[in-house]
Amino acid sequence: MEKQHPEYQDYLEGLKDEIASLKKKRNAVILAHNYQRDEVQEVADICGDSLGLSRQAARTEADVIVFCGVHFMAESAAILSPRKTVLLPVQEAGCPMADMIDVPHLRELKRQHPDAQVVTYVNSSAAIKAESDICCTSANAVEVVNSLDTRKIIFTPDRNLAFYVSRFSDKEIIAYDGFCPTHILIFADAVKRAKAEHPNALFVAHPECTPDVIDLADHVCSTSGMYGFVRESDADEFIIGTESGILYRLRQQNPQKKFYLPSEHILCPNMKMTTLDWLAQSLRYMRYRVEVPEDIRQKAKIALDRMLKIG
Ligand code: 13P
Ligand code: SF4
Repeated sequence: MEKQHPEYQDYLEGLKDEIASLKKKRNAVILAHNYQRDEVQEVADICGDSLGLSRQAARTEADVIVFCGVHFMAESAAILSPRKTVLLPVQEAGCPMADMIDVPHLRELKRQHPDAQVVTYVNSSAAIKAESDICCTSANAVEVVNSLDTRKIIFTPDRNLAFYVSRFSDKEIIAYDGFCPTHILIFADAVKRAKAEHPNALFVAHPECTPDVIDLADHVCSTSGMYGFVRESDADEFIIGTESGILYRLRQQNPQKKFYLPSEHILCPNMKMTTLDWLAQSLRYMRYRVEVPEDIRQKAKIALDRMLKIG
């Protein structure tokens, strides 16, 4: 975290204390995605990638799940834990990629390809999950696609993750044309420049990056996969091809290693909306509650459960 004015620092410390005591009072658990602000990750009980957090959400004994992330993540928690109260601290924190597909478009694709199964990246609304056969995350997409018994797969909404999966599958993949507006701004030229500046560094990329960027990667994995890869690797330097929030714990866990981004700021504005203020208000006022209509929830849960059973 940047150095703050002392009074502001006191204010932040006060917020952290309030968050800790409200968390106890509400019997709440705070989950934070790996892209959240440093200070939010600091106060969270569990940090992780989409898959890890959805598993944790399903397992927790807490009455309240405060999901510091974007809307689809809180929705997944609400689908898996219908008796718990799920809160998203900032109502507007959405995922533009998830918003790129709607139900009529997916139904039309299904009509055009009746012999295909639908694999939907968890970065999607509950309504889209409910229309799908199975979900996947960036950590298990290849495994999920290859586990299916049809040759034809409709893959939504990320065309880049679909392309990445197609490198490891002989299935016919019909990709929806969605993308992540943050990851497509990681350019191959910038990666090449970073590699030239740091010739000993390994380049690790998220599969939401474009194929020309993936071609340059020494390793491709989900956000949590990056922590494991860096920890196990003998290399001392890494160029990281994903949102900059990941650097907070990468640096904390590997103080002797060096990390670079291909460009100065790789930010997901939606992930950065959640501040300690919003988190404290969320616990103070029990807002913003994320609920999924029961008919959609049940169908979406089948797609999520099928994924959770795989590895
Ligand atoms: P992970 O599943 O790797 O955490 O990615 C989620 C996401 O939103 C990436 O942009
Ligand atoms: Fe969505 Fe991209 Fe932000 Fe992930 S980084 S939440 S895919 S916009």
